Amino acid sequence: MTKVRTLLSAALVVVLFTPLTAFPFDAPEYFENKCLSCHSIGGGDEVGPDLKGVGEKRSEKWLIEFIRDSEKVISSGDPVANELFAKFKYKKMPAQELTDAQIKSLLEFIKTGKGGGASSYRAATEANTFDVSKGHDLFIGTAKFKNGGPSCLSCHSGGPNLTSFGGGTLGPDLVTKSYADYQDKGLNKVLSKISFPTMAEIYTASPLTEEENYYLRAFLRVENLKYQQTINEAHHNGDPKNKFVLLGMVGALSGLLGADAIFRKRRKKTKKPY
Ligand code: HEC
Ligand code: HEC
Repeated sequence: MTKVRTLLSAALVVVLFTPLTAFPFDAPEYFENKCLSCHSIGGGDEVGPDLKGVGEKRSEKWLIEFIRDSEKVISSGDPVANELFAKFKYKKMPAQELTDAQIKSLLEFIKTGKGGGASSYRAATEANTFDVSKGHDLFIGTAKFKNGGPSCLSCHSGGPNLTSFGGGTLGPDLVTKSYADYQDKGLNKVLSKISFPTMAEIYTASPLTEEENYYLRAFLRVENLKYQQTINEAHHNGDPKNKFVLLGMVGALSGLLGADAIFRKRRKKTKKPY
């Protein structure tokens, strides 16, 4: 009897705790790894639709079925699914092997969460000089990344103020070009899930932490500002170097025009006999 009882209680323990221990489901983390590359929550449409408020637009049943296997719902002829499928250029959303409960907790997260990196997004404009110098050290490699990724300088140059350190030429110049192209938010996003072909493998194995991402942006922002400033000063203050360039251009232009005029006259002359 006692044996049966202990067996029973052991079975109960297993039944009660298996789902919790075997599937520690972390909805925010799952969303970040499996959904965020195509969806934002409140950040606008991307590869797939913005998921903000999707819980109010669709029934829970529909959402569970769609998230688990969108293709099945689409091929069943469901009008909403087909409309979405066409609107998003017939991109297929990958099927997810999830239980109803797991999808429900994802939906709960979507209802309350912010995606697109926004939940943890810290703007580089908040940075102080410590943050900036931290970013500088990480960028050039005097400080190491927590997960062991290589320094950015091994493949990228760091703008005109970092020339003394050299810097790689494999990737684009992040200070003069990329920071302006992506802006802070965009850069936060691409650095939190790096998918540039040359970098993806390295940094998926050793991702940047949120803090490192922030420090790097803080550094790149300041360097970009310095760079913009030198350009602006050169324009406004009539940098003598620029004047010479301008004079040179005017000279070259008048030279060309002169040559053209002479050439035309000649052409006219040679054309006359015909
Ligand atoms: C590879 C890109 C991609 C990934 C990854 C992805 N989706 Fe989608 N999702 C789409 C596209 C594209 C659509 C639009 C419908 C279609 O084309 O199938 C969509 C549609 C949806 C819809 C319907 C939106 C609406 O307005 O009704 C929901 C909900 C959804 N996705 C949730 C998720 C969740 C949750 C995850 C992560 C588990 C995820 N998606 C991962 C691309 C993706
Ligand atoms: C192994 C070389 C390598 C390393 C290390 C590397 N990158 Fe890159 N990166 C590249 C290359 C090459 C590209 C161009 C796209 C491609 O081919 O992947 C690129 C592209 C980028 C872009 C997009 C640039 C644009 O203008 O579109 C950003 C942003 C970027 N890298 C940031 C970083 C940061 C920040 C680091 C340091 C944490 C870093 N990279 C480290 C090679 C590298």
